[in-house]
Amino acid sequence: MNALFVHPRIGRKATAFLAREHKLLIGGKWVPALSGRTFETYDPGTGRIIARVAEGDAADIDLAVQAARQAFDGGAWGRVSPSERGRMIWKIADLLEQNADELAELEALNNGKSLASAKNGDIPLSADMFRYMAGWATKITGETLSISTPGSYHAFTVREPIGVVGQIIPWNAPLLMAAWKLAPALAAGCTVVLKPAEQTPLTALRLGELIQEAGIPDGVVNIVPGFGPTAGGAIAAHPDVDKVVFTGSSEVGRIIVKAAAGNLKKVSLELGGKSPVIVFPDADMSVAVAGASQAIFNNTGQVCSAGSRLFAHKKVFDRMVDGIAQEAGKIRVGHGLSEGTQMGPVISQVQLERVTGYIDQGKAAGATVAAGGSRVGNEGYFVAPTILTGTTPEMSVVREEIFGPVLCAMSFDDDDLDRIARQANESIYGLAGSVWTRDLSIAHKMARRIRAGRVGVNIHGSIDAALPTGGFKQSGWGREKGHEGLNLYTEVKSVIMSL
Ligand code: NAI
Ligand code: MG
Repeated sequence: MNALFVHPRIGRKATAFLAREHKLLIGGKWVPALSGRTFETYDPGTGRIIARVAEGDAADIDLAVQAARQAFDGGAWGRVSPSERGRMIWKIADLLEQNADELAELEALNNGKSLASAKNGDIPLSADMFRYMAGWATKITGETLSISTPGSYHAFTVREPIGVVGQIIPWNAPLLMAAWKLAPALAAGCTVVLKPAEQTPLTALRLGELIQEAGIPDGVVNIVPGFGPTAGGAIAAHPDVDKVVFTGSSEVGRIIVKAAAGNLKKVSLELGGKSPVIVFPDADMSVAVAGASQAIFNNTGQVCSAGSRLFAHKKVFDRMVDGIAQEAGKIRVGHGLSEGTQMGPVISQVQLERVTGYIDQGKAAGATVAAGGSRVGNEGYFVAPTILTGTTPEMSVVREEIFGPVLCAMSFDDDDLDRIARQANESIYGLAGSVWTRDLSIAHKMARRIRAGRVGVNIHGSIDAALPTGGFKQSGWGREKGHEGLNLYTEVKSVIMSL
């Protein structure tokens, strides 16, 4: 076995965590995989192995589902009052903050993102999500209904927890994705089997320890790292799972829908995107340039709602492209744990090849590289912030989700908002979009015309816990975060009483 790589900038607590055995959390106990197998997890900044993690598969998922079933059906979680549930969820947020440095270091090491973005973004946003949902635990209500059937009735609805939920999450924001999934499920009173992405299991495992420390009863949250087709597939197909909630590729979303058909479990999906950034000639150019640059280069472009298609009016197209190219040139690309890094690597060799492969396809199809355009260095998986111009709607770089720091820039020479919107909506996806203008009428009209689950005006978007996120078209089913996100985890029951 290869020795584990210990990054010199990792602190004492994260080093101690990395040195521990990384097991599965099932029924409140940390256990090895039944198969005894482990898999390696990497630092994408160096490509070196940083930990070995127990590899769950169908047999372990089965045990985890039984534990979650027991915690739900046996009533251990149901006997906890909403107020107490809220207090425990709030405590998870406190514990995230108390362990923020350790978590940020682990996230930067395992995902590659800059330590600053983990510290100022992922960790506080995760805590926010738990706090936001902690408040909902005591505010789950139904309605009283007016009945017209002859007679005298009392009728009302209640919202009940949906039951055992399987959650499968991606690697682009490992802790935050776990928080988005777990917080509403716990607030609603569900029990969970969570499978982190095989590339980034570490912060989810540390979160599992904190969830125990917060007093969440055994079996309520089970965490089983493993691979997609085995562990993930077993969750999606399991007959005792009431709902599966997934974030990842549209390709796997379709596999999950098919697997879920066996017991017709409920399904929510947050899938890919190819979100437009539409810039009108009256926009504040410095705001639009900074916003468009952030929209595509944040998190190395590995964001489902990344603004990956720029549509700028002909009058401002060159200024936009030059401005974003200048921003791109200033971004310090480096190891997530190096001082001053602003953009880390992509997650893996596979993603490196995928992203650079798309850039090559774009060039071969006639696009021009206005910034970046290639890998950076030969250790780790770094890609230069890239802008392609001369791109057209048929090109794969314009149609498909690249999930890397690659912007396709296009122009329009039109004042017809319907036509502009049609161009922006020409995608199988509909996750997000943004409009940059100082004209209130254009802003409102375009916000209505964009076929996507989230629209920003003079901001590409926000991942605030209160703001629902999700997709039109092939970008998904359902909305996460906000009150809508809580409702993903409840079933409505109507009760009618003849008086
Ligand atoms: P993926 O969709 O394969 O992986 C996401 C999660 O699904 C992981 O936990 C994985 O283990 C699990 N999974 C994979 N195959 C599964 C299966 N057959 N059954 C159940 N679970 C399964 O994404 P991948 O391969 O890591 O990335 C490929 C592309 O997917 C990216 O380039 C990007 O375009 C897209 N993607 C989109 C994300 C988003 O936030 N919308 C997140 C991650 C990837
Ligand atoms: Mg995959």
